[in-house]
Amino acid sequence: MKFGVIGAGQMGGGIAQVAAQSGFDVVVHDQQRAFLDRGRGVIEKSLGKLHEKGKLSDAPETVLGRIHFTTDLADFADCDLVVEAIVENQQVKNDLFKRLGQIVKPEGILASNTSSIPITALATASGRPAQFIGMHFMNPVPLMQLVEVIRGYQTSDDTARIVTETAEKMGKTPLACNDFPGFVSNRILMPMLNEAIQCVMEGVAEPEAIDGIMKLGMNHPMGPLTLADFIGLDTCLAIMEVLHQGLGDDKYRPSPLLRKMVQAGLLGRKSGEGFYKY
Ligand code: CAA
Ligand code: NAD
Repeated sequence: MKFGVIGAGQMGGGIAQVAAQSGFDVVVHDQQRAFLDRGRGVIEKSLGKLHEKGKLSDAPETVLGRIHFTTDLADFADCDLVVEAIVENQQVKNDLFKRLGQIVKPEGILASNTSSIPITALATASGRPAQFIGMHFMNPVPLMQLVEVIRGYQTSDDTARIVTETAEKMGKTPLACNDFPGFVSNRILMPMLNEAIQCVMEGVAEPEAIDGIMKLGMNHPMGPLTLADFIGLDTCLAIMEVLHQGLGDDKYRPSPLLRKMVQAGLLGRKSGEGFYKY
């Protein structure tokens, strides 16, 4: 299997890493060489950690050697499966899938790691809706068990089977759901994070107390504000917008504080500051 990943950010890098750990040849694309270098550095660090703990079956250099980093989309022509993990913006993803639909060999499968954008709409943009699917990994990809597999309206049974088997080969547990805004994961998770942000805005408690209450009281591994910073506040806002627009209920309205922080460039861990400083 030749495995393609578009986007070398926190998700794309993690997906490429786990695919390479599973023995696949991987090609990773980002817009600039500097973004690829940053992604490569994160993968190297993660592989080093996993190796120290005896959790890698191959040497880190062997795994890294299976990944080819490129700024040229033409390198995806012979991929069997391409997973897109770029910015959570429907227009940008549509444009990319339109191009990929013309580049990747006709029998290749295209998948999106989108958190919330309708799979059926992206499938239409790709021009190959039967061979299109949502393959939603969780962050951090090397440690999290789940892959949410989302069938679009026209996804074929063969596409769903191949992607499910590929997720299993990557050591993950695939679980199926249908194409509704936010799918299952973010329809349930994101309103909780948004509500925690609303609690900060209303002065219900300090961020540390909100996180502590949810960690100690509900046994969550991370508090909701720490998790929002970890995901990226820009991504959280984009997901809330899709839920609000797609489900049409004001209970999904993004918190004004979330909107303001994104406008201010406070995106969480990736920008160095969100609810906490990094
Ligand atoms: N690769 C390799 N090792 C990693 C790593 C990575 N990417 N990330 C963390 N680690 C390591 C840490 O360095 C640490 O190593 P040491 O023990 O040597 O220090 C080890 O893993 C465990 O980390 P911690 O002890 O710091 O923390 P932890 O035990 O709490 O586990 C966690 C970390 C698994 C991330 C845990 O905090 C957790 O489950 N957090 C919640 C994550 C979550 O909810 N993810 C879903 C987000 S939503 C989403 O993904 C969907 C979407 O569309 C937005
Ligand atoms: P990120 O900002 O860390 O990385 C995105 C990468 O895509 C960047 O390196 C950027 O340069 C690149 N990129 C942007 N536009 C591009 C284009 N047109 N062509 C090629 N590369 C492009 O974002 P992320 O957190 O990795 O999220 C990526 C996707 O995964 C989003 O759709 C997001 O909703 C989804 N997702 C995120 C999480 C999370 O916790 N952050 C979890 C699951 C799914």
